Amino acid sequence: MDKLIIEGGHPLKGTINVSGSKNAALPILIACLLVKGTVRLTNVPRLRDIFTTLKLLNILGCETTFEGNTVTAKVTELKHEAPYELVKTMRASVLCLGPLLGFLGEAKVALPGGCAIGARPVDLHLKALERMGARFILDSGYIHGVCGSLIGARIVFDFPTVGGTENLLMAASVAKGCTILENCAREPEVVDLANFLIACGARIRGAGTAVIEVEGVRELKGCEYRVMPDRIEAGTYLVAGAITDGELTLVDCPLEELDALVSKLREMNVQVERQEGGTVLVRRGGELVGVDVTTQPHPGFPTDMQAQLMALMCVAAGTGSIQEKIFENRFMHVSELGRMGARISLKDRTAMVRGVPQLVGAPVMASDLRASASLVLAGLVAQGTTEVQRIYHLDRGYERMEEKLSAVGARIRREKE
Ligand code: EPZ
Repeated sequence: MDKLIIEGGHPLKGTINVSGSKNAALPILIACLLVKGTVRLTNVPRLRDIFTTLKLLNILGCETTFEGNTVTAKVTELKHEAPYELVKTMRASVLCLGPLLGFLGEAKVALPGGCAIGARPVDLHLKALERMGARFILDSGYIHGVCGSLIGARIVFDFPTVGGTENLLMAASVAKGCTILENCAREPEVVDLANFLIACGARIRGAGTAVIEVEGVRELKGCEYRVMPDRIEAGTYLVAGAITDGELTLVDCPLEELDALVSKLREMNVQVERQEGGTVLVRRGGELVGVDVTTQPHPGFPTDMQAQLMALMCVAAGTGSIQEKIFENRFMHVSELGRMGARISLKDRTAMVRGVPQLVGAPVMASDLRASASLVLAGLVAQGTTEVQRIYHLDRGYERMEEKLSAVGARIRREKE
């Protein structure tokens, strides 16, 4: 297992290119199962979860190539089973339920286990697909679904689930008749998936709002599509510029998808500005001050930025709070930040963060993707050396992070553990 060794205290200065979005690329890749003909996807980040998804597509009968940041995908002969060995490493595999049921009328997908941040059930996916005519049996850890063909229906989600909305978007695109999805997730990655499906010939209206209408079509055709930039990677580097008291310019930063984060950063006295030519500049605009944050479905504050903002709050003046309302166990970075001298107390799902003048480097352990990003950010500002262990978590969602950070002045290197 690899680890990152970081020597803190070096303000970051320079330009970082934001990579393509992991959470848009994953559902778009899986949607290729629905397409007749060749799909060419550009701006696909080279991440562990992407390679896992390509393996899953190959097992399901979709041939793929991945050169640079371009993926080509073409279905040869679709199979209906997604094995546990793969699904256990990436929960997003459950997204193939919709396409397999929509196209084959059958799907056998290993029930994704929970993960570090929570149980992460898929009940809302199954309930919604049942409304379209699917029937499911849970048998020895597999979800086995069958349907004659999926029939359009009116579906109201109990919760604006991102994965559930994406699964149903894909299923409804090839179902018979019209589907109305209500209380949908409004995340930009859902919109990117819908735009991809529309580029393949799907008839979808309302993506990005709470109500999405889908008119099923018989066939989706191959197309070329550019995946949107990763707003969570971009947000992570906005925090990196602020926490190190540097001055970073981000290229391809989807600022308009980050309103809730940017308004909290500005409340903390961080300057975030769109420049001529479309780049985004971030730097401190004065002494950092603590803020109160509650994570919400989009357009509220994104849960995927909670751990990263907490690192910044650890070195801000005064006290701030973070209420995590999306996942039940997304504070594992708290104890690790505490090892670096952060003063954070937890009560239920709220963290109270009391800023300290200085964090101190220490060996810490990553527990999940965004927690590992939080520890790297803390290491960049801590006095001395921080060793972030188990960074395979980080490699799931950040393309070449240590290279991008080194190029703007961070003292960071990867070592074998
Ligand atoms: C997506 O996960 C993202 N993953 C997550 O990003 C992100 O944190 C999450 O959306 C929320 O924005 C990908 O896109 C691959 P949900 P997803 O369904 O689809 C509960 C990262 O760091 N729920 O909106 O799993 C669930 O337990 C990852 O990049 C049910 O109860 O999120 C959770 O509490 C982490 N039943 C809440 O809803 C269901 O059937 C949000 O889940 C589905 C969800």
